[in-house]
Amino acid sequence: MPTRTVLISGAANGLGAAFLEAYRKQPDTHIIAIDRAPIPSDHENVQKFTVDMTDESSITRLATTLASQTIDLLIHSAGIRGLVPHLETAHHGDVAACETLQAMDLATLTNTFAINAAGTFLLFRALLPNLRLAKEPKVIVMSSRMGSLSNNSPGNRDAGSAYAYRASKAALNALVRSFVVDVPEVMWVLCHPGRVETGLVKWREEGAIGAEESVKGLVERIERWGGRDSGGFYDRFGEVIPCQIMPHRVRAPAMTAYTEDAGLTNLTV
Ligand SMILES: NC(=O)c1ccc[n+]([C@@H]2O[C@H](COP(=O)([O-])OP(=O)(O)OC[C@H]3O[C@@H](n4cnc5c(N)ncnc54)[C@H](OP(=O)(O)O)[C@@H]3O)[C@@H](O)[C@H]2O)c1
Repeated sequence: MPTRTVLISGAANGLGAAFLEAYRKQPDTHIIAIDRAPIPSDHENVQKFTVDMTDESSITRLATTLASQTIDLLIHSAGIRGLVPHLETAHHGDVAACETLQAMDLATLTNTFAINAAGTFLLFRALLPNLRLAKEPKVIVMSSRMGSLSNNSPGNRDAGSAYAYRASKAALNALVRSFVVDVPEVMWVLCHPGRVETGLVKWREEGAIGAEESVKGLVERIERWGGRDSGGFYDRFGEVIPCQIMPHRVRAPAMTAYTEDAGLTNLTV
């Protein structure tokens, strides 16, 4: 009899698929895997559902099907990068060109928000009864450092632009913080998994690590994170990601050093 149930969203690809692989091999573990596309993994302890984060009725159907089933751990990995779709072809290999001030459009903004933020809210709310059946329920959310307001500061070489992704991840972070306050019986943690080679963008990004490497470190941390970590925003090494708005008394270029994994450091304001 499985002693633990892990629900993984975005389980068809990338980090979600790597989480699925990692958890399905653990003893006494039952997996509920969801994605908008069919999930290739076929294993006795993996139950699969097609769920579109932008379709409330598909989320409600999932919750109805799972009624009275305990969820001990929910790993939320469904999400999109929010690049303007036609520019991904026109500017293949150039992420920055696909999300500039000039390029961003309403459809990309609203679709990214619907998936990364609004859909996440609907999924979490729908599954609260299942989480509340667990002894020590945990929800681990794949956010992004780009959703940190501190990260988006003059002097950080990667700041600015990325309107859809940054705004949707900042909204996601705000939604999760409200769950932290309203549902304290569940532990909620926001994560930045690192720059990982997945289907999130249509080409390989420089410096990207493999999904298995990112997930290996995260799985170890997820086991260790407890009630005191609820509401935290951490990178894959367990370092806190600063998230406050800084005043911009700027002498910009010299004031920060940034690396994807180390984040924003030496900020002098
Ligand atoms: N990769 C990175 O470097 C990185 C860095 C920071 C944060 N993250 C975050 O980590 C999470 C996982 O990303 P990933 O890199 O593993 O990307 P990925 O390979 O594209 O996986 C994301 C999964 O979510 C699914 N999804 C998208 N829209 C959905 C919807 N409306 N309903 C249900 N499922 C949907 C995707 O399906 P489709 O393939 O059909 O779109 C895909 O299977 C995302 O939230 C991302 O923002 C990733």
